[in-house]
Amino acid sequence: MQVRTLRLREFRNHLDSHLQFGTGITLLLGDNGQGKTNVLEAISYLSLSKSFYAASDAQVVMLGHNMLEIQAAIADAAGRVSDVRITADALSGEKSVQVNRSELDRVSSLIGMFPAVILSPEQGGIVAGGPAERRKFLDLVLCQTSRTYLADILEYRRVLRQRNRLLLDARLNGTAPSRELPAWTEELVRLGSRLIHKRALFVEGVREAFTSAYGFLAGASADATVRYMTAEGIEEHMAVEVIAQQLHDAVEKRAAEERRRGATVVGPHRDDLSFAINGLAAERYASQGEQKTVLIALKLSEYDYVTMRCGETPILLLDDIFAELDRHRAARVMERLQKGGQCVITATDESLIGGRVQWDGEHRRIIVESGTCREAPV
Ligand SMILES: Nc1ncnc2c1ncn2[C@@H]1O[C@H](COP(=O)(O)OP(=O)(O)OP(=O)(O)O)[C@@H](O)[C@H]1O
Ligand SMILES: [Mg+2]
Repeated sequence: MQVRTLRLREFRNHLDSHLQFGTGITLLLGDNGQGKTNVLEAISYLSLSKSFYAASDAQVVMLGHNMLEIQAAIADAAGRVSDVRITADALSGEKSVQVNRSELDRVSSLIGMFPAVILSPEQGGIVAGGPAERRKFLDLVLCQTSRTYLADILEYRRVLRQRNRLLLDARLNGTAPSRELPAWTEELVRLGSRLIHKRALFVEGVREAFTSAYGFLAGASADATVRYMTAEGIEEHMAVEVIAQQLHDAVEKRAAEERRRGATVVGPHRDDLSFAINGLAAERYASQGEQKTVLIALKLSEYDYVTMRCGETPILLLDDIFAELDRHRAARVMERLQKGGQCVITATDESLIGGRVQWDGEHRRIIVESGTCREAPV
């Protein structure tokens, strides 16, 4: 997809901003607190139907105002242009999404229509944070690219809550778990194995692109790998039925531990992703710049994966990625971004981005200042 134009009204600090994007790179330039990230946030609404980080729409509506409005012209791979309009009312909580003037029944139906790949500072936790942040990353990508994944994960969470309640009750009462437990275990294994299967396929699908993107950004001698860490006995390439059998065995094997803890100790809710650079775990050993490079390589490989799965190129949103990168890596990032696809990046200073870009219309610079946007002179 290509976002051609965007209008923001009463959105964060943008009272009424109009932007025209390049087909390649659009660089949003401006000092701290001027409204660059807010523009990326607005684009995330077009993809996710909500903000990529705000807890509620009310927070995003301009202070002292009632209703935000986002309007965009988005072209698909065939060049067909859709007009998308999103409004959200801070007081009533009402939200509406229109595509070509017809209102979607459900706001969430927008998810998957206009895919985006987002890298913002909040996502640093994918490498440096705990397993929950990496699982959230996996779930978000897979919900965008698979219709069944979202339904499965919601159902899995419900089953997990029920099963945990039985285990906790038994622990607190000092009794054996209820006779209902095996039925819940079956459900947990059925849904859990489907989630593990999809996550493992995703990791297998991005591995090569990830390793090669990392090598490109950091220099060929740097070897970065990514692995999906799941229950004992489960291998990436296994069929879903085999995963189910292995997961079942793993749950049985740890029955005593479950009773002791009063909670389900194996399953996709306990899994993790692991990144390593030249064999060393990135979360423990990598420097800030190396961790940032891992994230960028991951997002570039996610970009390829989403393109393949959706048959539509996503828009790549990279917020504040240059701060930790040395000039070689920054120049490599720019070189890679110029090769294709639409992306929107932010920087406080053009000297940070490294490399030379012809700001010729395909690539554009927009100056963001106090919630207003204007094209930089060429
Ligand atoms: N609901 C809101 N209404 C009005 N202004 C808001 C609202 N939410 C945030 N802001 C303002 O928006 C500004 C932040 O904008 P943004 O995060 O886009 O900055 P930025 O240009 O990305 O800066 P940095 O370079 O520091 O990341 C802040 O000054 C903040 O006070
Ligand atoms: Mg910002």
